Amino acid sequence: MKKPYTICHMMISIDGKITGDFFSYLESQQAGEYYDSKALIYGKKAWLCGKNTFIDNFPHQDKIDLSKYKGIVSTYDNYYLPSEENYAICLDRKGSILWASDKIEYPDHHFNKVLQVVTKQASFEYLGYLKSLNIPYIVNGENDLDLNSLMNTLFSQFKIDLLSVNGGGIINGSFFNEDLIDEISLIVSPMIEGNQGGSIADYKGTSPKFPKAFHLDKINRFGDTLEIIYKK
Ligand SMILES: NC(=O)c1ccc[n+]([C@@H]2O[C@H](COP(=O)([O-])OP(=O)(O)OC[C@H]3O[C@@H](n4cnc5c(N)ncnc54)[C@H](OP(=O)(O)O)[C@@H]3O)[C@@H](O)[C@H]2O)c1
Repeated sequence: MKKPYTICHMMISIDGKITGDFFSYLESQQAGEYYDSKALIYGKKAWLCGKNTFIDNFPHQDKIDLSKYKGIVSTYDNYYLPSEENYAICLDRKGSILWASDKIEYPDHHFNKVLQVVTKQASFEYLGYLKSLNIPYIVNGENDLDLNSLMNTLFSQFKIDLLSVNGGGIINGSFFNEDLIDEISLIVSPMIEGNQGGSIADYKGTSPKFPKAFHLDKINRFGDTLEIIYKK
């Protein structure tokens, strides 16, 4: 199978949490800035997140009348648009995120082209709405995504040979389960979060194939921040 080289890039607290208040503390600033600088390198072609991460962190609209987009799309084909910017790939099986624009800013001052991945659960009206906003999309699977075939499409049709998978835990869990992650990049903030937030892999599917082993490749220290790289 052809696929992009795939790095799971995540910022965590000492206690392994990927969400929580610790992000907003001064003590996390260095880790946050370093995380973003590496996100630009790993995601220079494309970076990918689950739907919840986009909803929690990026602008979107609450309500839209999709009926006015009826008739624009009538088949479940991919809609390919080349992009000068990195693709920001959103996995959203039912087609539910209502984007405000075809571009999102991350990190600061860097614009990314949204690429939406849905299944046939998404309506033709929703796909028509994406098309009218110039948002490319991939339709993959009936009810559930086939991540192996998705990786092949990203590589072959969208010419993506490097991919950064940036969470959250649910999406990462699905990629780890299918052995699609070649490298793990952990940036550790020197804080204990102590909340109930999840870890970098939080598999919710019905066919778990865990645990998975990786090799430690390198460790770098920057002040109180730690960078840990594992490879397959
Ligand atoms: N610390 C970090 O570096 C970091 C990085 C990223 C995110 N985060 C945080 O993580 C939190 C969100 O994480 P999360 O784990 O709740 O959500 P997530 O992984 O962002 O999104 C999960 C959703 O994606 C959809 N999905 C599409 N295809 C899927 C598949 N094959 N397998 C599983 N789900 C699929 C599902 O919604 P449908 O069923 O509707 O399709 C699922 O509920 C946010 O608060 C965010 O800020 C932290």
